[in-house]
Amino acid sequence: MSPLFLPLLYLLLHFLPALSLDFLFNSFNSSDLILVDDAKIDSSVIRLTNDSNQNSIGRAFYPTQINMKSTSNSAKISSFSTSFVFSVYPEISSSPGFGIAFVISNTTSPPNALSGQYFGLFSNSTKHSVIPLIAIEFDTGQNPEFNDPDGNHVGIDLDNIESIITETAGYYDSASGNFTPVNMRSGNNARAWIEFDGSNMQINVTIAPIGVNKPSKPLLSYTNPEIADYVSDEMFVGFSASKVTWVEIQRVLAWSFSDTGTARDINTTNLPNFVPKSKSSLSPGAIVGISIACVVVFVVFLSGFYWYWRRRRVLEGEDEEMEDWELEFWPHRFSYEELSQATSGFSKENLLGTGGFGRVYKGNLAANNNEVAVKCVNHDSKQGLREFMAEISSIGRLQHKNLVPMRGWCRKGNELLLVYDYMPNGSLNNWVFDKPKKVLDWKGRLRVLTDVAEGLNYLHHGYNEVVLHRDIKSSNILLDGDMRGRLGDFGLAKLYQHGGVPSTTRVVGTLGYLAPELASLATPTAASDVYSFGVVILEVVSGRRPIEAWSREDEPFLLIDWVRELYSEGKVSEACDDRVKSECEAGEIEMALKLGLACCHPHPQHRPSMKEIVAILCSNVVVSLPENVEAELAHGGCSGSNGNNAGLSSDSTEPQSQV
Ligand SMILES: *[C@@H]1O[C@H](CO)[C@@H](O)[C@H](O)[C@H]1NC(C)=O
Ligand SMILES: *[C@@H]1O[C@H](CO)[C@@H](O)[C@H](O)[C@H]1NC(C)=O
Ligand SMILES: *[C@@H]1O[C@H](CO)[C@@H](O)[C@H](O)[C@H]1NC(C)=O
Ligand SMILES: *[C@@H]1O[C@H](CO)[C@@H](O)[C@H](O)[C@H]1NC(C)=O
Ligand SMILES: *[C@@H]1O[C@H](CO)[C@@H](O)[C@H](O)[C@H]1NC(C)=O
Ligand SMILES: *[C@@H]1O[C@H](CO)[C@@H](O)[C@H](O)[C@H]1NC(C)=O
Repeated sequence: MSPLFLPLLYLLLHFLPALSLDFLFNSFNSSDLILVDDAKIDSSVIRLTNDSNQNSIGRAFYPTQINMKSTSNSAKISSFSTSFVFSVYPEISSSPGFGIAFVISNTTSPPNALSGQYFGLFSNSTKHSVIPLIAIEFDTGQNPEFNDPDGNHVGIDLDNIESIITETAGYYDSASGNFTPVNMRSGNNARAWIEFDGSNMQINVTIAPIGVNKPSKPLLSYTNPEIADYVSDEMFVGFSASKVTWVEIQRVLAWSFSDTGTARDINTTNLPNFVPKSKSSLSPGAIVGISIACVVVFVVFLSGFYWYWRRRRVLEGEDEEMEDWELEFWPHRFSYEELSQATSGFSKENLLGTGGFGRVYKGNLAANNNEVAVKCVNHDSKQGLREFMAEISSIGRLQHKNLVPMRGWCRKGNELLLVYDYMPNGSLNNWVFDKPKKVLDWKGRLRVLTDVAEGLNYLHHGYNEVVLHRDIKSSNILLDGDMRGRLGDFGLAKLYQHGGVPSTTRVVGTLGYLAPELASLATPTAASDVYSFGVVILEVVSGRRPIEAWSREDEPFLLIDWVRELYSEGKVSEACDDRVKSECEAGEIEMALKLGLACCHPHPQHRPSMKEIVAILCSNVVVSLPENVEAELAHGGCSGSNGNNAGLSSDSTEPQSQV
């Protein structure tokens, strides 16, 4: 070997420009890309998620990494330009949406990536780590907890699910400058262009429907030198998407890329279209004739089969036939057999508890080995069930980290079976009352209260309409595997308010948690939810139930009155649970108890809103309440037994133990 060879090689490697990348795919085959997890090539198109997997993640990357920095410690980063055609189509248009992301990453498998609203890219960590990962999200679902503006937006994510910038999907007309929205969830092909300008630290994103030339004004233009922190020397480029229970089909049909100039234009003329055809196009008469004949034969066959099937059902005495309305609701409809199998035939061993609304069983779904809690609710009017399902299906569409996720449902006769994620740590009351095996520490209590406040704030303010919970109590607050609080049973109370269950009054809720105004005015409001939450705060801080029987006295012990009295005597902190007193600062206890009292103000209009409560609980070092809340408290907080509602009758006095 010539002695000159090595230095020459060195020179070549360092001073020759890196290999440039320029490609254009009008269709794909599986040797063109690195396919990760569920990503597949299906009829020459990238298909990112697998419909039959409950939690599906898929990614597809170009096999060669792109050079983003000329040398390792260079501050200068390279530029590239890319364009692609994609299509997102949900099986049920009202189901939660997920979307698709274009990714620049130094790894094809980012650590702790989650499915669902996380694009199969990000973890749920709130800490900000800096891993080289930039995503341009084409998000078809709204997650208010990530500050999503709507359910159809484009955003730039710097290694975090919370976008640094977002814009409603659409484009600016090149001639008039008018904005036209683009619905990314219609199944129609859409084209995106991304310019990554390393010298100006700028990312431009543009989208438009097929048939519209590239608009001159980008939808998004983001400039920030911080972008360089999320770039490593060599990075993969590609796509990622994920889903949970609901099917959303995310496809990439064509892709062009260049790191030397502008990406080549994609000829969209011959690209397939995946929107199901509603009208069949006119075809030669023979074909029409044959199709009609086929349809007729099929319909005759089907109705014959249906008739036979119904007869068998009737003969067998099973009333499990589907009614039309049941098909309208998105959550997965389980078959009764599936749930029966999951809970070993609703056996005693699987019974988790019996609550005001019915029995709850633990189950294990055979399909994916998921642990679930199955709640059996009896109701004697089908109309009530239908209204309830309408409500549940609109509420269930809300996904929030502090709500117990619903997996699906099933109806058998007048029995409704609701399937939720199993919460391994049971309900909050098991961790604060009496002498439990383990006591929740002060930090844990405060964290769970904050979680629940966020969940309830989401129900009250996170959606177009106010969703009331109506039955907030410590036994309806469940703790997940990380000991984070989640609100369960939302909406259930409404089922009973419509009547149908004899021997209950119209007021639904639980004794001890009911706002006093419900005695005269049976319409629950957001403020009556706030009242119940106030009772929960007092319980959690004091470790005492809202109503306890004194051993020798006739009058029961009423938690609210007791705390109010201590407050008026200027020693509210004495209400704190002895078992956690040593762990917390006096200021924190006082703040929490006063907040609880403020929520339990006898007059609904003087209670703080959930928004205010979340703001108070979330600000890290709170030792005092905002002035307006404090003033309301002083004004009406210690007026004796105003909040006494022990006289109200109610349908459920026993705390529920699960879900
Ligand atoms: C995939 O496409 C490449 C060219 O892009 C071609 O060389 C290869 O033979 C194709 N593979 C298959 C399995 O069709
Ligand atoms: C989807 O996943 C199921 C099982 O998890 C598997 O049997 C099936 O082949 C997958 N579908 C595709 C298109 O890969
Ligand atoms: C990606 O970057 C991180 C942080 O710089 C580094 O720890 C990790 O090893 C890189 N992964 C790969 C596959 O290069
Ligand atoms: C975060 O994700 C992990 C799974 O990766 C899960 O176990 C945990 O419950 C999640 N935490 C929160 C707060 O959602
Ligand atoms: C990005 O958009 C801005 C604003 O329209 C424009 O000034 C800039 O030239 C664009 N950059 C690239 C690389 O296209
Ligand atoms: C796009 O492809 C079609 C059919 O392959 C062809 O007729 C048309 O000229 C192409 N358009 C451009 C701009 O190249």
